[in-house]
Amino acid sequence: MSKTDKLTIALSKGRIFKETVPLLKQAGIEPIDDPETSRKLILDTNQDNVKLVIIRATDVPTYVQYGAADIGVAGKDVLMEHGGEGLYEPVDLKIAKCKLMVAGIKGQARPAGRLKIATKYINSARKYYSQKGEQVEFIKLYGSMELAPLVNLADYIVDVVDTGNTLKANGLEPLEHIADISSRLVINKASMKMKHQSIQSLIDNISAAIK
Ligand code: ATP
Ligand code: PRP
Repeated sequence: MSKTDKLTIALSKGRIFKETVPLLKQAGIEPIDDPETSRKLILDTNQDNVKLVIIRATDVPTYVQYGAADIGVAGKDVLMEHGGEGLYEPVDLKIAKCKLMVAGIKGQARPAGRLKIATKYINSARKYYSQKGEQVEFIKLYGSMELAPLVNLADYIVDVVDTGNTLKANGLEPLEHIADISSRLVINKASMKMKHQSIQSLIDNISAAIK
């Protein structure tokens, strides 16, 4: 890595942070603070020229798009919602794997008429239903989607599913598979040109560390 290039890497602090740390370590980058215990939003690393910014998962593409971060790690679900404008997406990190799915109350027949779909993934859900040629109504939520069918807010939800335990615990079942999801490395397009050597070497080291 060229010592003159300053690199800012955007990460969310949940599972993406935990699963990205071992990959960064392979590229010689180790955070000094732990975002779970520190209140700092800019974390130093063992390399003076590399900083980590800790932000909401859904904000990662935005920070990278505008160059506030050179590099980020974001779930494909988040990238599909964002649209990917201004971003290179060179590497599938194969971490934080899950599936984007339609789910509903277990054993319940499909209601008649126009379906009500609750989701935070409005763009992906709209695309999915329009490809199926189905007219549905969307209700935008920001979390705890599993609650919506239980209180008659919606017929179905579109959400990410991993083990299926959250659906099960709430009496729901997966109905339709929309997409396989994993987290991707995203790079600001201008940074890729201006800091090419540093970023390419980071991409190479991280790629070599992916299982
Ligand atoms: P925020 O910062 O918005 O609170 P978060 O801290 O939950 O989000 P992370 O946990 O770092 O964010 O990552 C969220 C990403 O992980 C999602 O965009 C999705 O790609 C993936 N994901 C979400 N739920 C699961 C799950 N149950 N199992 C595996 N991967 C998941
Ligand atoms: C995600 C998602 C589901 C759950 C699915 O939530 O929104 O609720 O995981 O995982 P499962 O199929 O293994 O049960 P998450 O754990 O990220 O909670 P959060 O949305 O509050 O961050």
